[in-house]
Amino acid sequence: MKVAKATDGAAMMFSPLIAAGRLNVAAAIRTRRRGYSGWTGAVNTDYDPLDPAVAAQPHAAYDAMHRSGRVHYNPRRATWILHRLDDVRAALRDTDRVTSSEGVTRIRVVADLVVLTDGEQHSRLRKQVHPAFTKGALDSWRDIIDSLAAELVDDMIASRGCDAVELLTTPMPLRVIAAILGVPESDIADFRRWSDESTQIINFTPTVKGFVNTTRSLRAAAALRRYFLKQLADGHLKDSDTVLGRLLAHNSDGALTDNQLFYIAILLLIAGNETTTNLLGGMLHTYAHYPEQYDMIRANPDLIPQAIEEHVRYTSPIQNLYRYTRADYQVGEVTIPAGSRVMLSFGAANRDPLAFDDPNTFRADRNPRSHVGFGYGPHLCLGAPLARMEAQAVLRELVSRVSRISVTGPTTWSTNSSLRGPTRLPVVLHE
Ligand code: HEM
Repeated sequence: MKVAKATDGAAMMFSPLIAAGRLNVAAAIRTRRRGYSGWTGAVNTDYDPLDPAVAAQPHAAYDAMHRSGRVHYNPRRATWILHRLDDVRAALRDTDRVTSSEGVTRIRVVADLVVLTDGEQHSRLRKQVHPAFTKGALDSWRDIIDSLAAELVDDMIASRGCDAVELLTTPMPLRVIAAILGVPESDIADFRRWSDESTQIINFTPTVKGFVNTTRSLRAAAALRRYFLKQLADGHLKDSDTVLGRLLAHNSDGALTDNQLFYIAILLLIAGNETTTNLLGGMLHTYAHYPEQYDMIRANPDLIPQAIEEHVRYTSPIQNLYRYTRADYQVGEVTIPAGSRVMLSFGAANRDPLAFDDPNTFRADRNPRSHVGFGYGPHLCLGAPLARMEAQAVLRELVSRVSRISVTGPTTWSTNSSLRGPTRLPVVLHE
């Protein structure tokens, strides 16, 4: 299988995406030749995660899949779909046959990045990023996170009605990441613009607009890269409590080049921003609609960690990611042929009635330990403790100061096929 290979520089890092449309067609033709247009035992479905209306409100489709077979196949998208919790977890564990090394989106891509590798290469890359996320690192960021949560909730209360996405759910993770990457307040506006634009790369669609947006993303990534390389050259990040400072401290043998440090920085931006925004937005939306659940937490703030876990399950900020099969892969009676594109539906798995009692109901005290909102297995989210810390800080601040969260207008949900959360959430916080 010929796949694009990224080697160096921001543009190179993303250049495979430009060729993606052609590569996907090749993959579709190749897999179709293997003959799964005939009966395979999979349920043919027209559930289409790329349909914006479905992406915004996917739960009826998930319920329908749960009522039917174990493996679904969408012929139009040439995509196999796993939706049961046990099947998604099994696929995430089986990295020999169900690999991330050809990409985790609809686009086949090869790159030396932790999320896009398996086996020894993945272990090596994961070890490189790990020093940035130790308990010591998290503890050193706690005060920043707590005071940011207090400041942003303060602003929201003072506004007496606002779009929570603008005032809280977007700035919170962005400013946390800026702080832990060592970006000074004076550079935040540029940083925000470059991060917003460059991270849109994962929303790639093979259309003219998609290619235009991708070009813009590449330009922003290049600007971000110049910025970080300059920061690294200035030398002030060394010995700092920032992510890059910690990675530099563990890099005494010089194994990490400045370019690799930049890749790690941009990976954290992509992985940590919109996901956490979605989690916070989902949380506010849920409490505005289920005030009795909010009252339960107010009465017993010890429930906050469990409640955040239930928010991750219920909201599923990443609704799905993809894998590619390296060998025939058996799920029950169905064989997914080698070379197939498989969508792992975290959103559906987190609402699997075989795994969760009354799955479409939010229960703050459920403590759903087996959810796959942060993934599972070797690629389990490295930033989960940070995301949990941010969400817990915001919820603690809310329950100690706000008696009621009310919506003041319709919520708009993202239409992105993989990342889901409110993009507009008009609320008022009552003290
Ligand atoms: C609510 C917020 C978040 C959610 C729902 C989330 C979800 C996920 C999921 C599902 C994966 C697995 C990917 C896969 O299996 O292919 C993952 C991996 C990852 N996440 Fe997160 N994430 C969140 C926040 C963060 C944050 C804040 C960071 C860092 C700043 C982060 C960094 C990473 C990294 C580096 C990986 C790759 C791990 C690997 O491939 O070994 N995430 N995340």
